[in-house]
Amino acid sequence: MKLINKAATLLVAGTLGLGLSVASHAAGDAAAGQGKTAMCGACHGADGNSMIPNFPKLAGQGEAYIAKQLHDIRSGARSVPEMTGMTENLSEQDIADIAAYYHAQKVQVGQAKKDLVEHGQELYRAGKPEAGVAACAGCHGANGHGMPGAAFPALSGQHEAYIAKQLKAFRAAGREDETGDRRTNDGETMMMRATAGRLSDNDIKALSSYINGLH
Ligand code: HEC
Ligand code: HEC
Repeated sequence: MKLINKAATLLVAGTLGLGLSVASHAAGDAAAGQGKTAMCGACHGADGNSMIPNFPKLAGQGEAYIAKQLHDIRSGARSVPEMTGMTENLSEQDIADIAAYYHAQKVQVGQAKKDLVEHGQELYRAGKPEAGVAACAGCHGANGHGMPGAAFPALSGQHEAYIAKQLKAFRAAGREDETGDRRTNDGETMMMRATAGRLSDNDIKALSSYINGLH
């Protein structure tokens, strides 16, 4: 019995391992990716520096994170009505190439508002221990470059309005008393719902400004 169980476990682990390595190691070709982003540029900017404050910059973003979002948007796990019909025909290779292209671009960093830096920096680096908010830097990096291997997104230079919108969407999804757009694709551990659920509007304002200038 013991042996059979062990074999079954190994088989399952082996299958999972294979699935994961295929999903995360489809090597992307940035040059090929550029040609596949013609349609994306209208909203995200030709080089991934979107000109529209509500639409995310993709320049410099981690490849695994970009790929995860494209899968989530396609499956509906993350609702992005603006991208309806744009992800259905992308192959795994297309997704890897597009991710490699945007990752290779340089993000245009903004500037934090002077009067918000102190509060934003404090929250970003130390969290709000009294309220149980973990430090953003712990997962997104001291300079906002994220943890690419873990698909923790880079935040450095991202538009203020977009950051605020995401934090509010995670907050709404993490609290029953909130209305508005909800974002729930932060996994079973609810890393962002748990974090954003305890941020005030003032906290979100300061963090969004700080992150726009962070690099
Ligand atoms: C009509 C505008 C539009 C077009 C065209 C578009 N997108 Fe988007 N995209 C958006 C918006 C808006 C969001 C964010 C929505 C939100 O607030 O959650 C988004 C989100 C994303 C994200 C998640 C970014 C993040 O930081 O989480 C990725 C990745 C992405 N788009 C890739 C693409 C790719 C690749 C294409 C082309 C195949 C594309 N988009 C075309 C509007 C667009
Ligand atoms: C325990 C790890 C963890 C902590 C702590 C954390 N985050 Fe996140 N954050 C994540 C993960 C993982 C995602 C991506 C979820 C997904 O896959 O869609 C994310 C996504 C985000 C996004 C959306 C990015 C985009 O491009 O759409 C923003 C904004 C963000 N986090 C800001 C913050 C801020 C501000 C703090 C601190 C108050 C913080 N995070 C703390 C793990 C964390």
